[in-house]
Amino acid sequence: MFSERVERLSGSLIREILAAAQRPEVISFAGGLPAADCLPALDFKGVPPALAQYGTSEGEPELREQITREAARIGLQCDPSQVLVLSGSQQALDLAAKLFIDPGTPVITEGPTYLAALQVFKLFGADITTVQQVDGQLPAATLAAALDSSKARLAYLIPTFQNPSGACYSVETRQALAEVIDAAGTVLIEDDPYRALSYDGDAPAPMVTHLKSASWIYCGSFSKTLAPGLRIGYLIASPDLMPYLLKLKQAVDLHSNRLGQWFISEWLKSGNYPAHLAGLQAKYKVGRDAMQTALEKHFADLADWQVPQGGLFFWLKLKTTRDTRELLKVALGEHNVAFMPGEPFYANQADGIGRLRLNFSHATPDRIEEGVARLAKLIRDTQ
Ligand SMILES: Cc1ncc(COP(=O)(O)O)c(C=O)c1O
Repeated sequence: MFSERVERLSGSLIREILAAAQRPEVISFAGGLPAADCLPALDFKGVPPALAQYGTSEGEPELREQITREAARIGLQCDPSQVLVLSGSQQALDLAAKLFIDPGTPVITEGPTYLAALQVFKLFGADITTVQQVDGQLPAATLAAALDSSKARLAYLIPTFQNPSGACYSVETRQALAEVIDAAGTVLIEDDPYRALSYDGDAPAPMVTHLKSASWIYCGSFSKTLAPGLRIGYLIASPDLMPYLLKLKQAVDLHSNRLGQWFISEWLKSGNYPAHLAGLQAKYKVGRDAMQTALEKHFADLADWQVPQGGLFFWLKLKTTRDTRELLKVALGEHNVAFMPGEPFYANQADGIGRLRLNFSHATPDRIEEGVARLAKLIRDTQ
């Protein structure tokens, strides 16, 4: 009855377990959501009635211009014709998968990587080769070797405040990786939804700015800074890919919702956006620091981690090998604390044994201390 690809459709058991984390007594480090009090008021006064009509597949012209200017600010020079407004940046992964992946197509991702990217790539049948960071950087030689052995024509990387590892690649790493990608003629998908959430200074310019010949897709989002519920994201791509991406977008949903685009556009032109971002940075930095303090106090002998300079997550490697999916069941069921197990962030889930992701944007500093203490006690008592 179904297409053969539906056999590769992975559900998320974790999501079902985490639905239980919504109970108010649970201290949740599981999600990746912006803090509720950081979401702007949804004010739709002044919406032009004409927006009830169909719009253009590329996105609202004014928003495309604004995205172009925002991109220039981070060093990515492009033309509005290279911008495609999307229904969340997640849609970029769907379009890219449709454009490049047939069953068996070799694809490179980091390990760990964003689990919903794995879900899409696997659905289309990607044969995923994983490249591993060393001390928060992806060695160019590692990528070169993986490209050479897998013959991958697509590499998906999250170089800035990665979900889940929090890693941010240096300028030198970005340059070296870009050289490798150019030399191999691989298409780069750079996913960059966390860039604005930086706590120790700006991140280096996107990796795609270092490419000289390879085709590329850069994915951006307003979900982490404005309103994820509006589902407005975008891609910027090398001109050769745009005609294909536009047709694929048309085939999915004709265009993204115009109210959401209008809302984002109004925010960008209001002049309040930089102050809003500064407010987010200040607030989340407090959470980041509170979690680092709590981890140093309770986890020093239990795990290794790096302090993330941005994004929303700590990534812990436990010193003992244990299945963190099982740990979650006990933590949530008996201790009212939730986190994301490490296994789903790997193409080969077994590679994620003993790892876990902790979000610091949701709980208050007191609850962060309490939740980290509870989790550490559970791990210590059961190891
Ligand atoms: C790395 C990464 N890419 C893409 C997305 C999807 O974001 P959006 O809400 O723009 O679809 C997320 C959301 O958590 C993410 O972490």
